[in-house]
This record gives sequence, structure tokens and C-alpha cells, in this order.
Amino acid sequence: MKGKILVTGGAGYIGSHTAVELQNAGYEVIIIDDLSNSTADSIDGIKRITGKKPIFEKLDCNDLESLKRLFKKYVGIQGIIHFAASKAVGESVQKPLLYYRNNLNSLINLLDLMPKYKIPNIVFSSSCTVYGEPDTNPIDESAPIKPAESPYGNTKQINEEIITDVVRAGLPLKSIILRYFNPIGAHPTAEIGELPNGVPQNLVPYITQTAIGVREQLSIFGDDYNTPDGSCIRDFINVVDLAKAHVVAIDRMIENKSNDKVEIFNLGTGNGVSVLELVKTFEKVTGKKLNYKIVGRRQGDIEKIWADPVKANTILGWKAKENIEDTMLSAWNWQLKLREKGIM
Ligand code: NAD
Ligand code: WQD
Repeated sequence: MKGKILVTGGAGYIGSHTAVELQNAGYEVIIIDDLSNSTADSIDGIKRITGKKPIFEKLDCNDLESLKRLFKKYVGIQGIIHFAASKAVGESVQKPLLYYRNNLNSLINLLDLMPKYKIPNIVFSSSCTVYGEPDTNPIDESAPIKPAESPYGNTKQINEEIITDVVRAGLPLKSIILRYFNPIGAHPTAEIGELPNGVPQNLVPYITQTAIGVREQLSIFGDDYNTPDGSCIRDFINVVDLAKAHVVAIDRMIENKSNDKVEIFNLGTGNGVSVLELVKTFEKVTGKKLNYKIVGRRQGDIEKIWADPVKANTILGWKAKENIEDTMLSAWNWQLKLREKGIM
């Protein structure tokens, strides 16, 4: 058995998949989550997949005293993977203070307590949103950070800066910052997956909810971009592939393989796929015809972005393996499972 890893936001989409991979790798997983954007069902899902229920404490990372109690209760945590955050871009424009408060305070609380409780390592969930509209694609980690398009995006930029400043100040901390591109799909068992609150903002849950009849029609935001088919291009990365990168990152820090105290890695496939291509792939693998229409552009959308993942491929030894067909099928199977359970 390896050591204890604290997963904040571990009941959520990416966190639950990561908890599975951590347990498969032999780590003891402690999940904290306030269930503001998830339910405890995912904790049961993790058990159904791995045969072991992770430790779960319902806790808000803004609550410093509860965090202290947690660190006193679970001694010897080797690292934290910090997923807990509010993540809806549109909502962040409407409620900026909620986003600044939640996403900044959570990280500050953890960084504040880590040295006191001798927890040396933190993996942070960042986003390709920090790049804005790239000047060239694929984009690597040395590309400039552009002014954020939303308060949500700004919290990721500020969080990256907070981590860097705290480590530079000489505190006994190391961090790996992971910039995710567009995570999609679900675990192949369909025991865990993405469960957005209300009307989905992201493309894939909108596709699967339309196909199952919860939504009437998918709107494709623009076919007049400067791309081969006119729709936007993204780097869609399978969530299980993404989860595995976190295990490699935490191993790397625990085994002291990193020379730098803060490292940043893109997590993407390196392939750009258009919105229309993704829709067609979904139709092909499921045999379902999707009801969609082309509408005007969505404000703030990036035209095209895909990752240069070479740094993660070479230094972490991690590479995305799953193809887009299997990934879209996994998203569909998860949607079918939600229907079977009467959730959606
Ligand atoms: P998610 O909403 O499914 O998971 C986040 C979890 O954190 C939820 O279970 C929520 O209940 C919990 N949470 C929120 N605030 C909390 C708090 N104060 N205390 C405790 N728990 C709290 O989101 P996700 O898609 O799994 O994203 C995980 C992380 O990855 C986030 O930091 C997000 O910003 C980042 N990210 C996500 C994407 C994406 O497209 N999904 C892309 C790039 C980065
Ligand atoms: C993808 C493409 C849409 C919905 C967002 C955040 C980003 C990151 C990932 C966290 C775009 C198009 C979508 C729909 C559509 N999250 N689309 N119809 O915008 O790349 O990134 O999630 O860090 O910060 O901004 O992802 O899934 O919303 O959109 O046509 O109903 O699908 O226009 O081109 P996006 P998305």
C-alpha cells in the first residue's frame, strides 16, 4: 500500500476518475467535497469499480477550521490533488465574487495549512483557458498567458501565480500545475461520469442529453470560423487518460524526481477535433441521428486550440491513449446509465 493522498473535489467529474486511478495504483484516497456540484453517488461508483470505498468527508475547503480537524485526523498525507473549484464560465461572469471567493480561498487555505501539517506536494487543476486565443497551434507551456475571458479563467491564472509565489517564498512545498484541455467521456464501466447541474454549458453533455431526449436540439455555435469545416476546434481528452496523468504527477513529486519546485504540464492529446467532427463521431458510434442546428457564435469562444503535449509525454512519461470514438461511446453509455437509474 502506498501513502495517503487527499483529493479535494473528489466526488466531481475529474476527481472521481482520478480517485479510481489512485486506488488502482495502490494509494489510500481521502476525498473531501462539499457536494456543491456533485453527489455522494460517485463515491459509491468508485467502490463499485475498484472494490474499495475511499474515505469521504463532506467538507468545504473554505472552512479553515474543518480543514485543520481533517489534517489532525489523517496524519501523514503525502500529497493533495486540488480539484475543488466552481467551474461554470457563464456563471462566473454573473457571480464573480462566488468564483473569486471559492476558487482562491480554497487554495489559500490548503497552502496555508500544508507546511504546518507537513504535507509537501500539491497537484493543481488548471486549464487551457489561461492561453486565451493562441497565436499558433499546437500550443506549449511557454506560450504567453492572455488576459482572462472570464472571472473563472482569471481564478485559474491567479491560482497559478499564488502557487508560484508561495513556493518561491521558500515554503517547503512542491507543485505540479496541470493545464487540462477539454476533458470528455466517462469511465468505461459507466459507474462514474460527468453530471452537470441544470442545462449543460459544455458540448458533450449537451450532445448526450439531446440524443436521449432531455434537450430538444443541440445548437452549434458558429460555422463561419477560419477552420476547415467552419466550426471551432478543441483538443478533447478522455477523462480516464486525464486521471492517469495525476497519478504520474503525484508519483513524480513523492519520488522526488522533479528538479523544479513548480512544474507546469499541458494535458491534451495533441490533436485538434472540430465541433462538427465530434458530433459526426457521436452519430457514427451510437448509430443515433442528432438533432442539431447551426446558430451564431457564442461570445468569448476561442476559434481553435489544441495542445502540444510533448512536455508531459517526455518528462511525465504520460500520453493520451484513448481514441475519440471510444470516448464518445463512453459518454453515451454513461448517459444511458443515468437514464436506467432514473436520474436523467
Ligand atoms: P466538478 O464540478 O465535477 O468537480 C469539482 C468538485 O469540487 C465538485 O464535486 C464540487 O462539489 C467540489 N467543490 C467545489 N467547491 C468546493 C469547496 N469549496 N470545497 C469542497 N468541494 C468543493 O468539476 P470537474 O470538471 O471535475 O473539474 C475539476 C477541476 O478541474 C476544477 O478545478 C476545474 O476548474 C478544473 N478544470 C475542469 C475542466 C473541465 O472542462 N471539466 C477543464 C479544465 C480545468
Ligand atoms: C466546446 C466547443 C463551443 C456547447 C470550456 C471552458 C474552459 C474549460 C473547458 C475549464 C466550443 C461548442 C458547446 C454547445 C456548441 N473548462 N459548443 N454547442 O468552451 O472549449 O471550454 O470548458 O477550465 O475554461 O471555457 O468547452 O464544451 O463549452 O465548448 O457548439 O451547446 O463546443 O462553441 O466551440 P470550451 P465547451
